[in-house]
Amino acid sequence: MRGNRMNRFPPLPPGEGPRVREINSRFCRFGPSFQPLSQRERGFNTGQNQPFPARGGGYAGWLIVLALALPSSYAREDTPKLPPHHHLVEIKIPETMEVNPLLPLKTGRKLECPVCHGIEDIDEKDFDKVDKQDPRFLRGGPYPDLQAFCFNCHDEEKHQRPNIHAMLDEQGEIIEDHCTYCHQEKPDRDKAQSLQEIKLRAPVDTLCWGCHLKTPHLNAAEHQVEPSDKVKEQRKRFLETHPEVILPLTEDGKVTCITCHTPHPPGVLDDKLPAAHQATSGKVDEGPVYEDSPWAATIAADKRERLEALARKYGRPFPFRYRQIQRETLLRLPAKDGQLCRACHAFDE
Ligand code: HEC
Ligand code: HEC
Ligand code: HEC
Ligand code: HEC
Ligand code: HEC
Ligand code: HEC
Repeated sequence: MRGNRMNRFPPLPPGEGPRVREINSRFCRFGPSFQPLSQRERGFNTGQNQPFPARGGGYAGWLIVLALALPSSYAREDTPKLPPHHHLVEIKIPETMEVNPLLPLKTGRKLECPVCHGIEDIDEKDFDKVDKQDPRFLRGGPYPDLQAFCFNCHDEEKHQRPNIHAMLDEQGEIIEDHCTYCHQEKPDRDKAQSLQEIKLRAPVDTLCWGCHLKTPHLNAAEHQVEPSDKVKEQRKRFLETHPEVILPLTEDGKVTCITCHTPHPPGVLDDKLPAAHQATSGKVDEGPVYEDSPWAATIAADKRERLEALARKYGRPFPFRYRQIQRETLLRLPAKDGQLCRACHAFDE
């Protein structure tokens, strides 16, 4: 692998499954193995062809998780036959709900098909033949990001879930509630501690999974293995010459999420601690920022075989668009210039 290719480390296309913010942390916390359904399995498309959904978006799946758990009193007998997991219909829209005037309320505040769909007589059509690409399919569409449609009625604010990695309030004080998502109790902030001492709620190799996927981006899965001797040697050499950094492995010596990522933003741990060392070009509450790359097509071609293999494995396509990292967050070392990668890989041999 050549030096100029080192920063190719783009997230997996979201088709891999729902992203973290689509799952309500209050529900999943550390439920032993929350198995998020893919949007497709739920029959919803939340703009999968959008490789990196905009920040603050992506909550549709989460709403849908709620929808699946709706009490049966919602299932009214006179509800027409609808596609599985479809939004509820034929109910009264509460006065408290502000509906975007884009969606016509022609029969008082009853939630009927034409409120959302602009295709005439959609209820009389063969559902399989309804053209979802038709801009009239959802009024005001097309919506590359489905939740933008949901927020025509649902209050966006209320459905935001906190980024628990944003651990400091406006005064710069730590938000203790956030610590206990992962630690049984808030650890002492200015002392390096062993994994036993910091009392994590789950083993490090599964700690992140309830909220994130095991494969949140391309390459994450391949990395969760015990390093080859070559990589072991490289990592050891790097850490010996860089005592200011940690790249922790699991108890059984495998690479895991926190090998590359720090869970804490700057300012939580004492600066002197190697665990506090991180790339700080981005803001934790904004997440990493990417930009379009002129190499996108070349790189997509490069990855075609792998993406096709994934598609066969999961029985659905994996759209992919490479974008270059611009600003990084929660990384122990910058990746955009290859520093993180070089800690374990010797690219130019
Ligand atoms: C609250 C808004 C809303 C109402 C009211 C509504 N729908 Fe939908 N409908 C949606 C959304 C959202 C989707 C999913 C869009 C997607 O997956 O991209 C959808 C999907 C569909 C689809 C396509 C399903 C598929 O996956 O192929 C059909 C057909 C459909 N609706 C029919 C109806 C009919 C018939 C009614 C009235 C009985 C109705 N809808 C009322 C919001 C609504
Ligand atoms: C035309 C307005 C409208 C649109 C657009 C709309 N909804 Fe709803 N939705 C409602 C109404 C009305 C209810 C029932 C009243 C309530 O629960 O507040 C509801 C209830 C729900 C519920 C039940 C849980 C709850 O909060 O009460 C879920 C989940 C939900 N919607 C998800 C979605 C998703 C996902 C989308 C986008 C794909 C969407 N809605 C788009 C009007 C809308
Ligand atoms: C998303 C999970 C998560 C959250 C939330 C979290 N931590 Fe941690 N914390 C970890 C993990 C994993 C480690 C071990 C790896 C490391 O040190 O980076 C750790 C290590 C630590 C350490 C030991 C550092 C060292 O040098 O050994 C301290 C101190 C700490 N956390 C404090 C906090 C405080 C204070 C909060 C709340 C503001 C918090 N953590 C929130 C996951 C988390
Ligand atoms: C309780 C839920 C929860 C847990 C546990 C959790 N995260 Fe997150 N994480 C989030 C949320 C929410 C975001 C905000 C972005 C989003 O919604 O996709 C986020 C974002 C991130 C980001 C993107 C950078 C950013 O600034 O937004 C990284 C990297 C990350 N988490 C790593 C981890 C790692 C590593 C662990 C395990 C040590 C972990 N997370 C555990 C909820 C969680
Ligand atoms: C070999 C290093 C490495 C490993 C292992 C790794 N990541 Fe990442 N991750 C990255 C890089 C590089 C980025 C992109 C730049 C950034 O985060 O600023 C990234 C990005 C992310 C993002 C942000 C995606 C976005 O665009 O919003 C999340 C969330 C994330 N990783 C979670 C995880 C989780 C969870 C694991 C473990 C299952 C994991 N990562 C394993 C290196 C790694
Ligand atoms: C903590 C060490 C570590 C870091 C940091 C790291 N890797 Fe890796 N990487 C591994 C291990 C372990 C493997 C599995 C193969 C092995 O052990 O030789 C691997 C494998 C790979 C592979 C090849 C997979 C294959 O099938 O041959 C690529 C590509 C790769 N890493 C790229 C990167 C990039 C890009 C970065 C920086 C964003 C990075 N790695 C950071 C440890 C690391």
